[in-house]
Amino acid sequence: MQDPLTKVAGDGSKAGEAPVVKARGLEGVVALDSELSFIDGQQGTLIYRGYDIFDLAEHTSFEEVAYLLWNGSLPNQQQLDEVKVQLRAERTLPPMILDVLRATPEDANPMAALRTAVSALAHFDGEADDMSPEANYRKAVRLTARTPAIIAAFDRLRKGQEPVAPLRDGSTAHNFLYMLNGEEPGPQAERTFDVCLVLHAEHGLNASTFAGRVIGATLSDMYSAVTGAIGGLKGPLHGGANIEVMKMLLEIDRTGADPADFIRKKLANKEKVMGFGHRVYKTVDPRATILREMVEELSEERDARQWYDYSTAIMETMASEKSIYPNVDFFSASVYYMLGIDPDLFTPIFALSRMSGWTAHLLEQWKENRLIRPRAEYVGPRDLKVRPIEQR
Ligand code: SDX
Repeated sequence: MQDPLTKVAGDGSKAGEAPVVKARGLEGVVALDSELSFIDGQQGTLIYRGYDIFDLAEHTSFEEVAYLLWNGSLPNQQQLDEVKVQLRAERTLPPMILDVLRATPEDANPMAALRTAVSALAHFDGEADDMSPEANYRKAVRLTARTPAIIAAFDRLRKGQEPVAPLRDGSTAHNFLYMLNGEEPGPQAERTFDVCLVLHAEHGLNASTFAGRVIGATLSDMYSAVTGAIGGLKGPLHGGANIEVMKMLLEIDRTGADPADFIRKKLANKEKVMGFGHRVYKTVDPRATILREMVEELSEERDARQWYDYSTAIMETMASEKSIYPNVDFFSASVYYMLGIDPDLFTPIFALSRMSGWTAHLLEQWKENRLIRPRAEYVGPRDLKVRPIEQR
């Protein structure tokens, strides 16, 4: 494989311009400074604004993490109560958005349905194009509050059920499961889902976040930026992997295939195994470690041990055959499945949580904005002359 980092001469626009670096897929390129998160790919560590992900997963809620990402510090009780009130005030969808979802085909890709509905939200937000920091903060809260409602409403409508309005009280995790299922979740299901939301909230300049910052850096609006981010997350090399992981586990379960043999066959066919590998982590993604423990607990409690056993066998095979390790998408699939969530909603749920991270990155981008505009090295022909069309 071509060395991803090669030095190329500048474009000569300025005499003696320092050579720029060309990196396939921008691998290893540092595009900007950020205070939001740090990933050590060798050690397998992740921090959000100074707090280790293990500490956050054990001791905080999604609302506390969203506040941390947006404001730079964990909230005290008063600040947490305030952000919960703000989120609750924004949870109810504009009626026209329900009309948009009713007009969406039942067999639409849920990420396409989410992309369309989030984009349409801008029509019903009087401050959609207001780029003041205060308005953008309110939009961060609004989008994070409404994304769960869109996903749940779409799922119920495609099943011929009426959307369920959010409760006046309750966490994002509690309300999403309630709006989805029409009944309130138990404390364990709520806490399990809440931890998943903490784990998926933020992860540096991943493809969807970077796409959002590129759009925001043109001083376009937050709705345009997060719509682009949703499009990026949809891809199976990114957030779409969790759906593919569940399809793989279900195929193993249905066929009775030996998980290790199943994986070795995929590798022999040069296929990518979804839920494994990462551009930054070269060891186990710390989020996968936390999620694996959740899969073990849930599979014991729900007498569904096979999901943990298959996953462990696959993880061991990938490590021994390729020294490639699980990422956040591998074990999250089994957690969501055992919570009774349809696999094609796994990536929308990723977006539900990452909406907090995307909007935090936009608030950060706009604090000290500069257009993000890399270059390409021209490798096409030169010095061609146009000939009359009859001679072409
Ligand atoms: C997420 O960036 C983020 O932070 C993303 C994320 C977040 O929180 O936002 O962490 C969430 O998107 C996690 C990743 C989910 N995607 C998948 O699980 C899809 C499967 N993974 C691969 O496609 C891949 O690992 C990527 C896309 C994640 C990373 O790819 P890179 O960095 O471009 O690496 P590569 O494709 O060049 O692979 C390097 C080598 C290749 O072998 P060779 O061709 O050199 O022999 O590793 C192999 C690859 O074939 N490889 C895999 C593999 N991943 C890499 N082989 C089999 N299965 C895999 N999953």
